[in-house]
Amino acid sequence: MVRLLECRLNGRDRVDAIADNLLLLDYLREKVGLTGTKTGCDGGECGACTVLIDGKPTLSCLTLVATIQGKHVDTIESLGSDGQLSAVQRGFHEKLGSQCGYCTPGFIMASVGLLRRNPNPTDAEILDALGSNICRCTGYVKIIEAVKFAAALGKHGVPP
Ligand code: FES
Ligand code: FES
Repeated sequence: MVRLLECRLNGRDRVDAIADNLLLLDYLREKVGLTGTKTGCDGGECGACTVLIDGKPTLSCLTLVATIQGKHVDTIESLGSDGQLSAVQRGFHEKLGSQCGYCTPGFIMASVGLLRRNPNPTDAEILDALGSNICRCTGYVKIIEAVKFAAALGKHGVPP
């Protein structure tokens, strides 16, 4: 069945005709053309597809787009403004938290979700928040440093 979906995506209202069985990941990448959100395992195990739904990190490969009716969705494309990187983007850049980069959008969105609700997390809280995301390249140490760098920037008013 096809229905009309109304949502707010990256700060803009949208109305789209969608099939009941369309996944949010496929909606973002194929219908809207936002390819920053990555398809990894396609089964809820890697976190590469993480986006924020009403501020909460969520696996878009396990989410039917029909369930975001009336909700706010933020993807990696929402970050930064006027050519400036957001704090978390800067953290990943400065601290070399990204190598091949395939996992990076998911890690960044999970980190943004964390810092929006907890601007000064402990190492344990960072590890817990990123526990659903897998990286095959970095060994995670640089990623933790990136999030801490972003938290420090947040104290100077740079949004996550
Ligand atoms: S692609 Fe969604 S968790 Fe791996
Ligand atoms: S940077 Fe390559 S998988 Fe994470």
